[in-house]
Amino acid sequence: MNKIAIYPGSFDPVTYGHLDIIQRAVSLFDYLLVAVVENPTKKPLFCAKERVEMLRDVTSDLKGVEISCFNGLLVDYAKERGVSVIIRGLRAVSDFEHEFQMALMNKRLYPEIDTIFMMARETHLYLSSSIVKEIASLSGRVEDLVPEVVAKRLYQRFNR
Ligand code: PNS
Repeated sequence: MNKIAIYPGSFDPVTYGHLDIIQRAVSLFDYLLVAVVENPTKKPLFCAKERVEMLRDVTSDLKGVEISCFNGLLVDYAKERGVSVIIRGLRAVSDFEHEFQMALMNKRLYPEIDTIFMMARETHLYLSSSIVKEIASLSGRVEDLVPEVVAKRLYQRFNR
């Protein structure tokens, strides 16, 4: 039986941290569904279509990866797609409480689902989409933090 996992997130925008998790998860599962939440609770800088396009660009060389978009509850989408494993990246301890709450709530809503946490690589421990956006908006360099296509979009968005 094929093992399918879902890697959900805002991906606003995708960073090298996300990409590292995707590359490592794809070798653990037969198929990886990267799911962009269409309406994240925080107001996104990029619309869902742009976030999906960037993800497709940076994963085009990976086999067994699908980039998709969803609205509503993650567990409903997971159920609809026949997925029973959620992948989440963990960075610092500060991520833990929120991730723990989401994992337990998702399990309560859909007992067949399990969340698997993957530790971020050491070099990505302090990398987040929010910090990347802040740096780009303040005229900083983001080429070491996000793939080139993403850096270009960030610079365009901030008129640089
Ligand atoms: O990249 P993020 O913003 O940390 O991802 C958070 C995400 C998208 C995984 C989470 O907000 C989510 O699952 N949203 C969908 C709505 C939902 O299912 N909420 C209940 C979570 S217990």
